[in-house]
Amino acid sequence: MSSQNYVFQDNQHDTEHIRLSAIQDEFDPDSCRRLSQIGIAAGWSALEVGAGMGSIMSWMAEQVSVQGKVVAVDINTRFIKNTNLPNVEVRCLDIAKKKSWIPRASMYAMLVTYYCTSAIGKRLLKTFGNLLSQGVG
Ligand SMILES: C[S@@+](CC[C@H](N)C(=O)[O-])C[C@H]1O[C@@H](n2cnc3c(N)ncnc32)[C@H](O)[C@@H]1O
Repeated sequence: MSSQNYVFQDNQHDTEHIRLSAIQDEFDPDSCRRLSQIGIAAGWSALEVGAGMGSIMSWMAEQVSVQGKVVAVDINTRFIKNTNLPNVEVRCLDIAKKKSWIPRASMYAMLVTYYCTSAIGKRLLKTFGNLLSQGVG
C-alpha cells in the first residue's frame, strides 16, 4: 500500500477529524479490551501503526508506564494528541514506502489499524507478526 492508495489521504481537515473521532469512539473500547487481554503491562514495548488521533497510543503509554515505550506511526500525524509523553515516539511516515522505520527490537503489544488490502500491506502484516512472535518472553 502507498499513500496514493490511501483513500482518505486527501480528506479535508475537518472531515478527517470527524472520521477519526468516530472511529476512536466506536473501536477504542474493544481495542483496549483486546490489548488488556494480551496482558499489556509496565515495561512492555508497544507499536501502533496508523495512530489516527493517538488515543490508543496514549492509553498504551499509560499501561507500559515510563519503564516501557510506545512507537506510534502514521502517514499523517497532524491529529495525534499527547505527542510529548515521555515514553512515546511518534513517527510521521508512509509505512509502505519507508521500510527502515520497522523496530529491530521485539514488540509485545501492537495495534495495526491502517487500511490494508494490497499485496504490500499483507507483506507488512507478516513483518509485524514476526516482530510479535519474537517478543514472547
Ligand atoms: C482507521 S485510522 C486508525 C485510527 C486509530 N488507530 C484508532 O483506532 O482510532 C487509520 C490510520 O492509518 C493511517 N495510515 C493510512 N495509511 C498509512 C500508511 N501507508 N502509513 C502510515 N499510516 C497510514 C491514517 O492516516 C489513519 O490515521
